[in-house]
Amino acid sequence: MPDYTLRIRRYDPQSGEAAYWDDHTIQMRGEGSVLDAILAVKADTDGSIGIRCSCQQGICGSCGVRINGKPGLACNTHLEEAAKRVHGSGWNPRGGDEEADGAADEDAGSGARGGMVITVEPMGNMPVIRDLIVDMDAVHWKKIQRVTPWLLAKEPVPEREYIVPHENMVDVTQSMACIQCGACVSDCLSMEIDPLFMGPAALAKAYRFVGDPRDADQYERLKDLSEDEHGIYDCTHCFNCIDACPKGVNPMGQIMRLRRIAGSDQEIEDRNNGFRHEHAFVENIRKNGLLHEADLVPDSYGGKLHPRAVPELVGSLPTVATALARGKMTPAKVLGHPHKAPPEVKRIFDEIEGRDSRRELNLYVTGYEDAPPPPEPAATAEAKADEPPERAHPKKGKRR
Ligand code: SF4
Ligand code: SF4
Ligand code: FES
Repeated sequence: MPDYTLRIRRYDPQSGEAAYWDDHTIQMRGEGSVLDAILAVKADTDGSIGIRCSCQQGICGSCGVRINGKPGLACNTHLEEAAKRVHGSGWNPRGGDEEADGAADEDAGSGARGGMVITVEPMGNMPVIRDLIVDMDAVHWKKIQRVTPWLLAKEPVPEREYIVPHENMVDVTQSMACIQCGACVSDCLSMEIDPLFMGPAALAKAYRFVGDPRDADQYERLKDLSEDEHGIYDCTHCFNCIDACPKGVNPMGQIMRLRRIAGSDQEIEDRNNGFRHEHAFVENIRKNGLLHEADLVPDSYGGKLHPRAVPELVGSLPTVATALARGKMTPAKVLGHPHKAPPEVKRIFDEIEGRDSRRELNLYVTGYEDAPPPPEPAATAEAKADEPPERAHPKKGKRR
């Protein structure tokens, strides 16, 4: 059986001591989980290691940690897989599987200390209670409570059950798969900058009710999530939450759905300028093919001469001056329009805007990462039941 070195981050805020790395070597089969290894060390060597766990089956969400820099479930991560992971680089091993196996694993997880090294740290963006245990109440659960995480039933309440169209339930199934492990919260870049951001898990939970036709408060929920400056427009599309999630919830995708329904369907113009900024971005690409940054700020605020734009333009002058000084921008580029959108860009816009309805893809449910094979004629009717719902473009052809 291979040797693994577990490098566990130890910290007890009560002690007044600084955090430190605690190394333990353990012999275990590569199919064992990181949690198995931690529990073995805890049972045989040091019972004081703090780790939270319950089901050990990837269901309860309590064993969230960072393993070689990436958040995930300790009980759901094999030792051999963790050892292949280069620190901080996500799930993909460096090089092929053969390279990353066994003694040849010099690049991927083995290191200066000899055996295959697996670092285990507490999740980020949440305060540490002790060692690998973070305070989920202080951050994660507080944000979940913020989005009213229960159904606000539509009146009149039917005598028996509500009848919900199958495709609507398929639509919210992806967000319902969340096990509240906090892995997405741990790696959210927006939360690092703005700890008040509602965050990926809470906003995925919000979509679960916004997308449910039994909920009476869809508009109020969307207005609230748009108007809050730490709401849906605070996400920077970094994709970290998608990469971190062990259940394929795709939190960023749920946030984008909230934005589409709030902005395009419900026409909610938030005071944070999020919707106008998105709209200005699209129009900028339509016109220039590539993003012309100099126009983006003024257009997001209604145009260069709009009273809303003036303070924003004045505020951005130091950034512009720095960009000019470093050669990232030239006066010609700022004032002119060096790009013109080629016909291909126009064709893409025409095709997307020419559709009668918007299709929300739900890869988690359909199970296809690439285009699915054409259905057999006999299976077509059955397959149709699993298709994602179509949303009519309420403003098709309308421009702002
Ligand atoms: S995509 Fe948005 S919500 Fe997800 S981690 Fe990045 S900033 Fe956070
Ligand atoms: S969305 Fe995924 S990563 Fe985030 S809390 Fe839910 S299961 Fe965990
Ligand atoms: S112990 Fe329950 S998900 Fe890991």
